[in-house]
Amino acid sequence: MANFPGMYPYTRMRRMRRDDFSRRLMRENVLTVNDLIWPVFVLEGENQRETISSMPGVERLSIDLLVQEAREAAALGIPAMAIFPVTPQEAKSDKAEEAWNPDGLAQRAVRALKAAVPEMGVITDVALDPFTSHGQDGLMDSNGYILNDETVAALVKQALSHAEAGADIVAPSDMMDGRIGEIRDVLEQHGHLNTRILAYSAKYASSFYGPFRDAVGSAANLKGGNKYSYQMDPANSDEALWEVALDLQEGADMVMIKPGMPYLDIVRRIKDEFKAPTYVYHVSGEYAMLKAAGINGWINEQACVMEALLGMKRAGADGILTYYAKQVAQWLKA
Ligand code: PBG
Repeated sequence: MANFPGMYPYTRMRRMRRDDFSRRLMRENVLTVNDLIWPVFVLEGENQRETISSMPGVERLSIDLLVQEAREAAALGIPAMAIFPVTPQEAKSDKAEEAWNPDGLAQRAVRALKAAVPEMGVITDVALDPFTSHGQDGLMDSNGYILNDETVAALVKQALSHAEAGADIVAPSDMMDGRIGEIRDVLEQHGHLNTRILAYSAKYASSFYGPFRDAVGSAANLKGGNKYSYQMDPANSDEALWEVALDLQEGADMVMIKPGMPYLDIVRRIKDEFKAPTYVYHVSGEYAMLKAAGINGWINEQACVMEALLGMKRAGADGILTYYAKQVAQWLKA
């Protein structure tokens, strides 16, 4: 046994862990309601509610029901919601024109939410996959390749239509090159100086998006079967920093890493390197795993969810998109 300061028994790490008060005093990170962004799925119609089999507890809601949910979420203190439209099959096309329809489902949902619950931050998804007949995020050439510049031109129209509908934050999730700069330019030109851009900068070609593709109905359509030619290779880390650097230079206000749990090393590196507002998406497959194990009684769902989200804060995230947002806000209040 060593017998000098700094070593056992002078230093006993367990002293500070002994009591609740000292554990609280040395706690380094905390999850609060201010960290939560709630992704939601919106449907056509009125008083419509559909369950999603691979995401128990998550529903697709028509705009009227979504507005009620937004009121409850605002009362719980959730700062923002991210809306994802479920486009009827007949509105999909090869050119995805529905994406920038000023009266499209997403645009109407934004207007309804901002009118009813103005204090709720509204985030829109900028990508073409809910609107293309082939389910890819961009426009396709005759070989099945996703065209970059043609897609960016479409995304710019889509983002502008969201800003004009009143979206507070537009969030390009498509991974085309140069889209942040082009969207920023067009927003400036049209006087939308304060529309924030949340760039999905480091979006990986992940298998954890499966349940989301069921939820928006793009899975069955997905021609080519994967998004490898534009989403990032899960093996890469330096490349994520390069992506973030470009998006910040092009005018992004906030950057995102996606998915969450298997990518927290990326969150930490990006936060350390850039110090910019950094978000992480706790994606549908992560939700499905926790929910399934919870339903089966294999894990304590609440404890595991809170631990997973705290881990994201500890990794450096300033906020978390999670399908558990409303539930977590309720747990935090209890
Ligand atoms: C598509 C988009 C996806 C998600 C958000 N926007 C799926 C994809 O890229 O295929 C996934 C979210 C989730 O899995 O929760 N632009």
